[in-house]
Parts: sequence; C-alpha cells; structure tokens
Amino acid sequence: MTTVTAAEAAYVVAALLFILSLAGLSRHRTSRSGVVWGITGMAIALAATVGLASRSITATGLVLIAVATALGAGIGLWRARVVEMTGMPELIAIMHSLVGLAAAFVGWNGYLDVDPELTGSLLGIHHAEVFIGVFIGAVTFTGSVVAYLKLSARIDSRPLVLPGKHVLNVSALVAFVVLTVAFVARPGMGLLIAVTVIALALGAHLVASIGGGDMPVVVSMLNSYSGWAAAASGFLLANNLLIVTGALVGSSGAYLSYIMCRAMNRSFLSVIAGGFGTPAAADDGEQGEHREINAEETAELLRDASSVIIAPGYGMAVAQAQYPVAELARKLRERGVEVRFGIHPVAGRLPGHMNVLLAEASVPYDIVLEMDEINDDFPATSVVLVIGANDTVNPAAIDNPASPIAGMPVLHVWEAAHVVVFKRSMAVGYAGVQNPLFFRENTQMLFGDAKQRVEDIVRGLDALDAPVPEMAATSR
Ligand code: TAP
Repeated sequence: MTTVTAAEAAYVVAALLFILSLAGLSRHRTSRSGVVWGITGMAIALAATVGLASRSITATGLVLIAVATALGAGIGLWRARVVEMTGMPELIAIMHSLVGLAAAFVGWNGYLDVDPELTGSLLGIHHAEVFIGVFIGAVTFTGSVVAYLKLSARIDSRPLVLPGKHVLNVSALVAFVVLTVAFVARPGMGLLIAVTVIALALGAHLVASIGGGDMPVVVSMLNSYSGWAAAASGFLLANNLLIVTGALVGSSGAYLSYIMCRAMNRSFLSVIAGGFGTPAAADDGEQGEHREINAEETAELLRDASSVIIAPGYGMAVAQAQYPVAELARKLRERGVEVRFGIHPVAGRLPGHMNVLLAEASVPYDIVLEMDEINDDFPATSVVLVIGANDTVNPAAIDNPASPIAGMPVLHVWEAAHVVVFKRSMAVGYAGVQNPLFFRENTQMLFGDAKQRVEDIVRGLDALDAPVPEMAATSR
C-alpha cells in the first residue's frame, strides 16, 4: 500500500468516526463516547496528514509541524481545563474565529503559491476557490471576534443600528459576486485585498447588528460558517477529509441554527440581517411593586406542594447551583412531591447548557423535560422555582408585541399557583428587557445567590422535618 492510499484509507476511517461522534453528541447518554470518537478521528486525521506531508517536506518542515501541533494541543488543553461552564460560549466563539482566520490564510496562500500544472478552466476554478475561501474565512473571523466580545460583555450586547444597514449588507454581497467574476477572469492582489477588507467589515457588521436575545442563533450560525470555511480550505488543499469534515460541521451548524430559530420563533434570514432587538423597542414602562419571600417561607411553601416545576436559567450556571438544586429535587421527591424540570431551548448561553449541568449533578433524565413537553402542565402545578432564568420565562414575549423578544416561545411559569424567582437583584436578563413576571400577584422574589438560597431551603426543609425537642415542646 502506498502512503497516499494509506492516508486516504485513514481519512475514510476518520470521517466515519466524526459522523459517529456527531451521532453520539446528539444524546446525553452517549455524549461522552461521542467525544471519544471525535478525539480518535482527529488523532488519526492528524497522523495521516503528517504522514502524507512527510513525502514532500523537509525534516525542518516536519519539526515545525510537530512544534505547531504541540503548541496548539498545549493551548487547547490548558483552555479546556481552566474554562468555566459560563465561559464556554466565548471560548467557542473565539475558536470559530481561528478557523475563519486559518481559512483566510489558506486562501491567500493558494493565491501566492499556485501549482504551475494548473491551467485553463482548472486554474479558473482554483482562483474561484481562493476568493470564496478568503471571503467565508474573513467573514467568520471578524463575526466570531465580535460575538466573543459581546458574549464576554467586553462590548455592549445591544444591536448596532447603522443607517441603511440592510443596504450595506446587500451591497457587500453584490460586491463579492462581482469581484469574484473579475478575479477569476483576471486574478490580482488588489481584488483579493478588496474582498478581504469587505468580508472583514461584513462579518463584524452582521454580528454587531444582532441583538443580545438572538445571540444563540449567531453562535450556531458562526459554527456553521466555520465549517464551510474549513470545507473551502479542503477544496484548495485538495484534502478530502477537510472537505468532508467542513461539510459535517457546516451542515450540522446550519441545522442547529434552524433549531435555534424555531425555538425562538425567528426567521433565519431576519436574524442574519439583524432585524430584532432594536433599542427603541425596549421601552419597559412602569411595572409596579414586587413581593419578596425568604428561604424558610419557600421551604414551607414546598412542604405543602403536591407538584413542583423547576425552571433553571443562566443564573443557575453562574451560581453553580446545580448540586443543591439536585439535592432539593431529591428531598422533595422523597416526600412524595412530583418534581420536574422545564428546560427552555435557549436557557443559559449554550444549546443544552442546562441539560449538561443537571446531568453533571445526576438529576434523572426522565424528570428533565423540554419546554414543549411541559408548557401545558403549569396550570396544575403548585409551585414553580425559577432559578436564575429571566428572558426564557418572560411573559412580555407573548403579551407585548413591541418587546424585543416578542414572539419568542417562553415557559408559561406564571400559570402555576405560586412562582418563586431566585435572582440577586431586579436586573434585566440577557436580552436587556424588564420581566413583568416579577410583578405578578402570584410571584415572589427570593433574592441572593441561587446556590446559597437553594442550600438555605434544603436546610429549611430539614428543619421542618426535625422532631421538636421534648423539653422545648413541654415548656411551651
Ligand atoms: P438570562 O435572561 O440570561 O437571565 C439570567 C438571570 O440570572 C439574570 O436575570 C440574573 O439576575 C440571574 N443571575 C445571575 N447570576 C445569578 C446568581 N449567582 N444567582 C441567582 N441569579 C443569578 O437567563 P435565561 O432565562 O437562561 O435566558 C438566556 C438568555 O441568553 C436568552 O436571552 C438567550 O437568547 C440568551 N443566549 C442564549 C444562548 C444559548 S444557545 N442558550 C446563547 C447566547 C445567548 P441578577 O443579576 O439580578 O442576579
């Protein structure tokens, strides 16, 4: 077997492992094995690529590859070890930016270093690949950097509203098409510089003009772009595995974006064009008074409840409250209370964020229900505990057509007999809109860090169970 056939065979195995990995990652129970398949596939792909490259590069080149691989792996391991769950979206965004940057560099390299054997229409195809690769890579790069800055709150998450923003976006796309035709006809560095600049500006503008509430779609959309950028590089480098892997990431990211759009009742095109969440629409008006409750009173409420739904959100992740929350659920179930979790598809900052945290704390899968599965059950529920959720339980999405989150499906928590909201203040959620839930008759606010408050309630329940000491009982 020649090196080339061995490498191609290894690529097929790696591609199959990537498909298995995606299948594994789509379910909680199989997600760990999905990760292992992915790592194995990537190790095989790297070894095969280096083996293939070793035929045509010098020993110094191989040493440089080894150094780059060690550096990349070292940085990746270090970041993965230190990142908090709350920092995952930013990490993913910045990783996407690197894929985009790499694709843009590969494109530029394809222009500077053309295979002399390419002539005629093949050369034209090569130049089209260069141009498209640079464009997708540069859009992904700046789009991901802006997403990173927004997600890490380094810049304002409100949408940037430039005059004629849609005209700007469409003009950039038209310019890209015209320049591509010109570049294929007569390749020149000036045109490549022009498309790079246009793509960098377009990527930044597209993401800057999207409101905070629509960021889930942006994250998955950039995931998809990074896949297509990698596939474009695969065409340029004539690397089948890169094409297959890029297409897998691109299409699964596009499907995820579709799921996110459906979850938020948004049209994909309007989110991309940045039409939602304009600051002018965020007029919250006068809301009235809110009522407060303490941990002991909440424990009493729960003691008398027959059914409880817990609606977790980003604040549970920030507080790392999943362990005491799981403990509280266990204690209530031991008392015969029906306890279930209602998970909004965009709760937290990552698809599946809440599910991961609850699985980490060993909450049984069968009591963790999706929004659609549980939304009709709130009217028959005694108590809802809203633990660090805000936008995902905001009735304004249904009641107020002027709200930036209007039309987004939410958990109908307010339909339960009692609602207890755990948060630290009356501050708004990620989308920057006030939540009328906090001012409803049947809602009480339990202020403080969610982890501490849930621990207080667990202690409160234990205290309610504890037998009254005899001395104290007789002396009364
Ligand atoms: P958010 O609307 O983000 O609200 C979280 C709430 O948690 C805040 O109001 C905050 O209030 C509270 N909180 C923070 N730290 C806390 C702590 N230590 N203890 C108690 N409470 C704490 O939450 P959500 O309902 O999960 O909604 C998610 C939002 O993020 C949506 O707008 C969604 O579109 C967006 N988003 C989602 C994703 C994905 S894919 N899931 C990605 C990007 C953006 P205080 O500050 O007053 O405590």
